[in-house]
Amino acid sequence: MLDKKKYFELIGSRIRSELNDLKRTPESAAFELNFEVSELNKILEGKSSKKEINTLINKMGDFYPIDISDLYILEDDCSNGIKIMTGKDSIKTSRVFNRKNSNGKLLPYYEYRDSAMSKLGPFKPEWIKELRNVNNSDPHNPEIAYNNGHFLHQLTFFIGPVNFYWKEGENYYCEEMNTGDSNYITPFYPHSFSSRDNSKDAIIIAVTFGGEVRRAQKEMYWLGEERVNKYKNFGKQKNKENFNPIIISKNKIFNENKNYLIKDLAYPNHLEIAKGMEIQVLNTKSETDYFESPFHSFLFNYGNCKILFNWKMNNVIHQHILLPGDSIYIQPFISYSFTNVEDANAKLIVYEVAGAMNSLAQIELSYFNDSSRLANETKKWF
Ligand SMILES: [Fe+2]
Repeated sequence: MLDKKKYFELIGSRIRSELNDLKRTPESAAFELNFEVSELNKILEGKSSKKEINTLINKMGDFYPIDISDLYILEDDCSNGIKIMTGKDSIKTSRVFNRKNSNGKLLPYYEYRDSAMSKLGPFKPEWIKELRNVNNSDPHNPEIAYNNGHFLHQLTFFIGPVNFYWKEGENYYCEEMNTGDSNYITPFYPHSFSSRDNSKDAIIIAVTFGGEVRRAQKEMYWLGEERVNKYKNFGKQKNKENFNPIIISKNKIFNENKNYLIKDLAYPNHLEIAKGMEIQVLNTKSETDYFESPFHSFLFNYGNCKILFNWKMNNVIHQHILLPGDSIYIQPFISYSFTNVEDANAKLIVYEVAGAMNSLAQIELSYFNDSSRLANETKKWF
């Protein structure tokens, strides 16, 4: 977790960077904003309070043509680069939502529970239990309530006998999914899930996430539909390949490693913004290799086995015992490994999603001259 002092320093340096962009010195800005120059300097040095910072940022927003929401740095809610949510805490967030059945009666459809999520991460993973039971796999089953589709991309991992339904154009589809299967759902494609067997748990881990379009949402809202559609058409012209809006992965074989098995889960390989994998850590009592990703990661322990999660932050090794149902948000470039100390194999899934530092940003960044000032502006521009 970022301490308050460091957080105030970062906000101060972000405000300095904005004043640089506006070609203002602290003195000229203080004069224009009718703000004490000594107080403004305290803010730039990170020696002020939240209240003073908010006052300054609001004044800047009133006076300069800037987006003040960009000046608020996110407060790191992780500890040592990760954020854990226990299965116990997850249960406390349980919400049951009703949807209509074939008789138009509102009856339980899903139970939702939150899993690990951080302010810093691009995803909102949920544990979802299918409460609507069906006795066939007919996509037109009147017991099934399709949603309207949603703005976020969705990666889904299946646990138990779950039916997956979706709609493309005027056509409805249903696929029978089982433990270890997975899918990817493109934004705004209507879909639904049900249970095929009410004697078993039917659960999905749904990792919904935003990409570049989510980050452009603010701009799209003021541009309006007509102009956004012009951009969409540009995209269509550049994107010549046929794409499949729903990607399904079933019965995939694991690759074997020294002490773990690994397989890819369904992901949108036409986009390079997300990946998924299932990892089974074998009961060898030995530590796996370290994993590390430039993406934000979400880890979920879906098996019945606890596992030792080891991770490194600034070369210090930390450990946590991950119980069944526990999940973790892992920041980019935090490396981690597992040690299975139980007799059974541990079953985990990991979803990785790109943040703002994607390929285009990386290439642009590589041309910059002084890398010491990228994440902390310390200088006036002249
Ligand atoms: Fe969904």
